[in-house]
Amino acid sequence: MAFDVSGDAYDRFMGRYSRELAPVFADFAEIGLAGTVVDVGCGSGILTEELAGRLGAEQVAAADPSPLVEACAARVPGADVRKGAAEALPWPDDSFDAALAQLVLHFLDDPVAGLVEMGRVVRPGGVVAASSWNFSEMLLVRTFWQAARSVVPAAPSETLEVASLEGFAELGRRAGLEDVEPAPLEVSSRYESFDELWDSFQLGVGPAGDFCASLDPEQRNAVRDKYRRRIGDPEGSFTLGAEAWALRGRVPS
Ligand SMILES: C[S@@+](CC[C@H](N)C(=O)[O-])C[C@H]1O[C@@H](n2cnc3c(N)ncnc32)[C@H](O)[C@@H]1O
Repeated sequence: MAFDVSGDAYDRFMGRYSRELAPVFADFAEIGLAGTVVDVGCGSGILTEELAGRLGAEQVAAADPSPLVEACAARVPGADVRKGAAEALPWPDDSFDAALAQLVLHFLDDPVAGLVEMGRVVRPGGVVAASSWNFSEMLLVRTFWQAARSVVPAAPSETLEVASLEGFAELGRRAGLEDVEPAPLEVSSRYESFDELWDSFQLGVGPAGDFCASLDPEQRNAVRDKYRRRIGDPEGSFTLGAEAWALRGRVPS
């Protein structure tokens, strides 16, 4: 299972990007210094921690269906952290002022249904916000699947069902949210060496980590070499950029 990993493994692979994204996404979602919020698909709790820093842990709840939820509970003592999926959140209607989902919608079979459920637990007039990778501008993952397909043509990919920022915002409108605003959010991560990057794929995190683990050693080395070439054969440190699409809307009053 792609997220049956330790919080540390998650943080080394994807969490390094989540950490950059969390404050920018929380600002975009208009999370200030008051109110209650739920972090949906909280993973190891990087956004949860950002929210607790603003609002106080007692004002923050979080849910995730994977074992990573335990890392979140340990990271943010005092928050109401529960095992649960976006499609069936374990809280009653109108429980929060806001619901946020960072890098989660592309894992849902039905992202609109997930947004509807987030809206259910938010009071009328409250905020529902989500962000997801624009995979064509997320170099870490895009490069991996390009390299993987050049070695294993049948390799899968990671995509979102929409092809533009406006299409992403449309998911919010289809979920019945009002005043939906989209925004591109830019982040990046610095690696000290190519080995640091490649080692992070060996931790089994997410669909790319899962796929990497399924390769035989020869295939894995071939993907590694293609990857390295695609990012310009870096010697020493380098930075990879990524863009997330975000939407923010209000639950109708
Ligand atoms: C890329 S991680 C993002 C984690 C965290 N939000 C962050 O920003 O670091 C994707 C997360 O979505 C979770 N997830 C997968 N399916 C889900 C579902 N149906 N409902 C809620 N979360 C889900 C995974 O368990 C994983 O923790």
